[in-house]
Amino acid sequence: MSVQTHTDFDVLKVREDFPILHTLAHGKPLIYFDNAATSQKPQQVIDRISRYYTRENSNIHRGVYQLSERASAAYEDARATVQHYLGAEHSHEIIFVRGATEGLNLVASSWGRKNLHQGDEVIVSYMEHHANIVPWQLICAERGAILRVIPVTDAGELDMDAYRTLINERTKFVSVVWVSNGIGTINPIQEIIHTAHEHQIPVMVDACQAAPHLSINVQALDCDFLVFSGHKTFAPTGIGVLYGKEKFLEDMPPYQSGGDMIKFVSFEGTTFNELPYKFEAGTPHISGALGLETAIRYQDALGRDAIHSYEQELTQYMSHALHEIEGLEMVGKSAHRIPVFSFNIQGLHPLDLGTMLDFEGVAIRTGNHCTQPLIQRLGYAATCRASLAFYNTKDEVDRFVIALQKVIKKLR
Ligand code: ALA
Repeated sequence: MSVQTHTDFDVLKVREDFPILHTLAHGKPLIYFDNAATSQKPQQVIDRISRYYTRENSNIHRGVYQLSERASAAYEDARATVQHYLGAEHSHEIIFVRGATEGLNLVASSWGRKNLHQGDEVIVSYMEHHANIVPWQLICAERGAILRVIPVTDAGELDMDAYRTLINERTKFVSVVWVSNGIGTINPIQEIIHTAHEHQIPVMVDACQAAPHLSINVQALDCDFLVFSGHKTFAPTGIGVLYGKEKFLEDMPPYQSGGDMIKFVSFEGTTFNELPYKFEAGTPHISGALGLETAIRYQDALGRDAIHSYEQELTQYMSHALHEIEGLEMVGKSAHRIPVFSFNIQGLHPLDLGTMLDFEGVAIRTGNHCTQPLIQRLGYAATCRASLAFYNTKDEVDRFVIALQKVIKKLR
């Protein structure tokens, strides 16, 4: 295959940082191609979490003692790291949440309850993860609002003309995924935001798959909200980020109550804390925030440009490899993509393929990938999904193809 090799990125050296990549599955070297579900963690992140519990563990924003002051400072430093990573104007625009799902629910619930009224419309797309559909369905049902859906073309791209025609004077909010977790398409997010802003409509971006594969700058994008999950970008589970422009977050009521989100409580009335704490009720996932900070720094140290060009090379290599497999149907054919590939093999069930591949040491996801409307729209009930990260190699792609061909032969 004539794909050029990128020299700035030493993938074998990078792999040394990820202990799990050197383990076996069913006695075979693990080929981990389920990165869209969750990414693996470098030793640096694992060590950071361990160091926190070994030497720094204490509750934050509460203790007057040294340990708590240190933990509080470390947590706020992590927030500043996320601020710079996202290019946000203020650190108080960064809210730590459990994951993108919580961030999406927070905005739908808090912004939606205050701002949506009978007959208002919210726009999402056919490409959304369920977590960017159901919170809007719930709040729209509660407020008497209507959910509008941007259609998807047969190639698995957003129909941008249809998007423009969906916008009208009743449209109050747009919430769209930047990169599809189901089929890997990169959407024209800048254009989506710009179009909505021409009509003064705020936009929220689901950046779960953008975070591990693209560079993000919320001020350049001019998005009003953005969410991502730590665990999909080499950080621990249970931590994620909601970015919101100050003017929106200031105006929104709390989502959950208790703990850090309170300034003063009495039975006559309660005053809420300022941003970002207004949205961080209870003891937060402190070690998660520190792990996320380390994951961001780890990727910065590898070099985001080097990661991206290596991934493009890997994407091209995997695309070629898949096209050579007889009977393989790509589900989502956009050329503008990250290395996430949905496919089916004619006459075979994805679940059988996934189960048999596991015995070859290959981990992929099968099913609807929490994007049931999208997969159905493209004509399937389920697909196989191989999703790669910067620590995957062309050699793994080759071994994956051999394993897939072996499994196809057995199942036929
Ligand atoms: N949303 C995750 C995925 O795409 C779990 O697999």
